[in-house]
Amino acid sequence: DRCTAIVLAAGKGKRMGSEIQKQYLLLNGRPMLYYSLDAFQKCERINEIILVAGAGEEEYCQREIVEKYRFSKVVSVVPGGRERYHSVANGLHAITDCDYVFIHDGARPFLTEDIIERAYAAVIEYQACVVGMPVKDTIKVVDRQSFAVDTPERNALWQVQTPQVFSYELIRKAYDLLLEQGDEAAVTDDAMVAELLLGSKVKLVEGSYRNIKVTTPEDLKIAEAFCSGN
Ligand code: CTP
Ligand code: MG
Repeated sequence: DRCTAIVLAAGKGKRMGSEIQKQYLLLNGRPMLYYSLDAFQKCERINEIILVAGAGEEEYCQREIVEKYRFSKVVSVVPGGRERYHSVANGLHAITDCDYVFIHDGARPFLTEDIIERAYAAVIEYQACVVGMPVKDTIKVVDRQSFAVDTPERNALWQVQTPQVFSYELIRKAYDLLLEQGDEAAVTDDAMVAELLLGSKVKLVEGSYRNIKVTTPEDLKIAEAFCSGN
């Protein structure tokens, strides 16, 4: 099987609020984005990597990340779009041929080979899978005035992470249908695109509680602690 990873690094990092975009902030002396690329580079399962950079940042990424750290599996650096799903669509369009696509947030530096392999085992069986973990907190559904209206059973709730992994044909079709709709889509992950547009059944597989998305300054502190071996 040919496996391609799409690594997303075209976000603005508004919630982090740092001067440098969060994907380039240093963790243990290396840009955050380095770590997920390194995991895919070292994993034999992965044949090629497409890096989605902010529009206008492609050359910077090519030079300062791909060439500097010798990520030989990165076959193209393409510009992202306004929303995450636009960036994913651009990444998908840069793929000429493969069997499975691993879509991953460049803001999740703690990806491991184990996670990639668990996701691979699931995608060859189910065609669509996302990694995640059971939620630790109780989750409330609230109304517009922030009054609780429901408390879903915690055992039935997982927080989803990336990679989200699909058969290439399936996810390509789902994203093509999404973009044909034209208007703003309220999708927040890739599995949702497959669920809504194709009615796909998406399997959840275990990621790890370390596989966090670095979103706010608090997350950066946690990421730094993980990096220093704690
Ligand atoms: N992303 C992207 N293109 C976008 C938006 C997001 O490639 N238009 C990527 C981000 O770079 C990140 C991942 O999608 O790796 C998850 O997004 P998120 O954590 O929301 O990052 P940002 O959008 O950068 O942050 P914020 O929402 O706080 O602005
Ligand atoms: Mg965002």
